[in-house]
Amino acid sequence: MLSEKINKALNEQIAKEAFASSAYLAMASWCEQKGYEGATNFFYKQSEEERMHMMKIFHFVNEAEGKAISPAVAQPEHDFPSYRSVFEAALAHEKGVTKSIHELVKLATDQNDFRTLNLLQWFVDEQLEEENQIQTILDKLNLIGDNGVGIFMIDTEVGKKAAAKDPAAEV
Ligand code: FEO
Repeated sequence: MLSEKINKALNEQIAKEAFASSAYLAMASWCEQKGYEGATNFFYKQSEEERMHMMKIFHFVNEAEGKAISPAVAQPEHDFPSYRSVFEAALAHEKGVTKSIHELVKLATDQNDFRTLNLLQWFVDEQLEEENQIQTILDKLNLIGDNGVGIFMIDTEVGKKAAAKDPAAEV
């Protein structure tokens, strides 16, 4: 049985994953309107992944005899000044999620909640992977430059990353 404190914290994380899914959907929409095909596919898939993350915690809470709450989702940002800024926003967002996952790990450790810790270990690894993936794209933008040709080349690469993603296999 989950403690009330852990249950509450997990519901807060469910809400953050739901917001992440919505935020990535908004990023995909902006990229699609601008014609950045690779990033469009990347963010649509990322949005699906975040929903999977939300559901992974959601099911866990109910299976652990807690009470999972379907969250209200705030309106995310829909306008971005540049291609680069979308990835910067995505990275900043992931860093925030990583921080909250680490805080959850601390809480579950303090409470000797080994089942929650086991769930969270997956998220610790996933956050590292997600941050690295977005940082790599930003590194390439720095290297190649974000002029028209640079963005075209990087967007093609981002499209390949998106094609290799299988959100259903993530969880
Ligand atoms: Fe589920 Fe990207 O945090």
